Amino acid sequence: MSTPSLLILPGDGIGPEVMAEVRKVIDWFGAKRDLAFDVSEDLVGGAAYDAHGVPLSDETMEKAQQVDAVLLGAVGGPQYDDLDFSVKPERGLLRLRKEMDLFSNLRPAQCFDALADFSSLKRDVVSGLDIMIVRELTSGVYFGEPRGIMTEGNERVGINTQRYTESEIARVARSAFELAKRRDNRVCSMEKANVMESGILWREVVQKVHDEEYPDVELSHMYADAGGMQLCRWPKQFDVIVTDNLFGDLLSDVAAMLTGSLGMLPSASLGAPMANGRPKALYEPVHGSAPDIAGQGKANPTACILSFAMALRYSFDLGAEADRLEAAVEQVLAQGVRTADLMQAEGDTPASTAEMGDAIIAALDASL
Ligand code: IPM
Ligand code: MG
Repeated sequence: MSTPSLLILPGDGIGPEVMAEVRKVIDWFGAKRDLAFDVSEDLVGGAAYDAHGVPLSDETMEKAQQVDAVLLGAVGGPQYDDLDFSVKPERGLLRLRKEMDLFSNLRPAQCFDALADFSSLKRDVVSGLDIMIVRELTSGVYFGEPRGIMTEGNERVGINTQRYTESEIARVARSAFELAKRRDNRVCSMEKANVMESGILWREVVQKVHDEEYPDVELSHMYADAGGMQLCRWPKQFDVIVTDNLFGDLLSDVAAMLTGSLGMLPSASLGAPMANGRPKALYEPVHGSAPDIAGQGKANPTACILSFAMALRYSFDLGAEADRLEAAVEQVLAQGVRTADLMQAEGDTPASTAEMGDAIIAALDASL
């Protein structure tokens, strides 16, 4: 088998500094587990705009289409707020998602036991929490036409369109059912079938895919607003949640916060299978570019490191190595190593981004 290829796009803000810690982890697997990756690095977001005048160059897009997996840090920052909409940093990420056709976005919300007290919810509500949000990522109101700011009479009107085809709904539903089979075998689908036709179709199609292909998986349906409420009330009732692009954006932020820190959560965006049978894939932390702390060594690299663990599992079929990396993170947390986002008392000295990365490497060493 040829060496698996990995394109690293650190991006903006804290992206480069958390990615530097991921590089240590990648190097560790090369040196200690004989798992070499062919790693290349390129620009995305504001960094790409600064260099090329666009948030993702055609060359980078082409590279992303060729590699086995893309690993992205974060995009955006206040210095880009006034840019034209078409070249904003976020457009680079959205282009990657759309052109790689990464329709299934996996956002696990897992509560690490050592961090259960960081949640805004009570410990017994969140401890042991392990849910997976599957967000449709390439359609819906993020991409539907018509869109834009138009003029009607003497005022302007902002327009976005929620649009889903049956096949778009069916493929993300399948992805959720497949995941559920490897977890607790339960899927809850969320939409607003009470007010949106696209929601009515969503519910129908998910039910049909279930009845015809996955009758043994337990399926329930919930209106997305009630789903948000239930996520805060008793999140452990869920296993896999499948929902559309916009609801998934909101609900995954809610779910992330249940776990105590956005700095801990990875994500995978998967597309259709490539010639080698593995899905096209992009991995990124759920957190953003955090410009307020960028360049200060305060950022928590864990979400980005755990995103690489997801790459090991979903792109490289190295589930046992992914388990090893996740266990190393868990162990470091249990030892009490904390970056600033995980500090409880004001007076404590937090671990820096690099110290957190080094602690995870030490725990990996200890795992051998
Ligand atoms: C996310 C982010 C993105 C989104 C932005 C950065 C385009 O909020 O990945 O959740 O809205 O999808
Ligand atoms: Mg979001």
